[in-house]
Amino acid sequence: MEERPTSVWGSNDFWQRSAAWVTGFAAILLIWLTFDTGAQIAMGSDDDLKNGVTKRVPAPTVINYKITYEMSDTRGHEVPVIGEKELFFGKEQSVEEAAALLHVGKLTSQSKNCMNCHTLLGNGAYYAPDLTKAWLDPAWSDNGPYLGMTGKSTREEAMAEFLMHPSTYPTHSRMMPDLGITEDEAKGLVAFMKHMSSIDTNGFPRNFGRMQGAIHGK
Ligand code: HEC
Repeated sequence: MEERPTSVWGSNDFWQRSAAWVTGFAAILLIWLTFDTGAQIAMGSDDDLKNGVTKRVPAPTVINYKITYEMSDTRGHEVPVIGEKELFFGKEQSVEEAAALLHVGKLTSQSKNCMNCHTLLGNGAYYAPDLTKAWLDPAWSDNGPYLGMTGKSTREEAMAEFLMHPSTYPTHSRMMPDLGITEDEAKGLVAFMKHMSSIDTNGFPRNFGRMQGAIHGK
């Protein structure tokens, strides 16, 4: 009897080879992506900031600079702009001081579980405003309500004061509870939030300028 020609689609050999190739290709792609992402999110240095080298995640000393955003037509969303120098809690923070502030802020954000209510860099809850760009919230600006309310003259002091005594300054129907945050922890948290606001997150959260403005009824 004549052997029936078998189609390639029915051949075990074909599928086994394909599976091996696809697995091999995906493994190489993943390894490449891991290194590519690692390079993208590696923290920049203080020298990068001084030399105007743009890094997605700037050095902790970015807290010594003014941070604003501008629309990028090529990228189709807002991108961070590291501007001129500005004092942070009344002084220019050294490399060591800035790193220490960020360290305290990060640990405090974890121990006090800010993510339980807020979102940070895409992780957390939306019970309360997204904190990724909270530093830029116009409510903390010179014309915003928080400065007058807290009796402070700078954004960082007003934010720290709010974090230590949130229930004294309720601005929404939902109130942030007092979490027993000390002054050092509050300063660290503000540094942590300022640094986070300088991270290039590909425009996330979308339209945060308008979003945060909307949250504060502007
Ligand atoms: C139990 C829920 C809860 C936790 C936990 C919490 N918050 Fe809040 N937070 C809120 C609510 C609700 C508001 C809005 C209240 C208001 O503005 O009066 C708020 C407001 C804020 C604001 C002002 C936001 C803006 O855009 O201006 C900041 C900053 C903030 N929280 C930081 C923190 C940090 C840092 C932590 C962790 C140390 C934290 N919160 C933990 C509920 C929480």
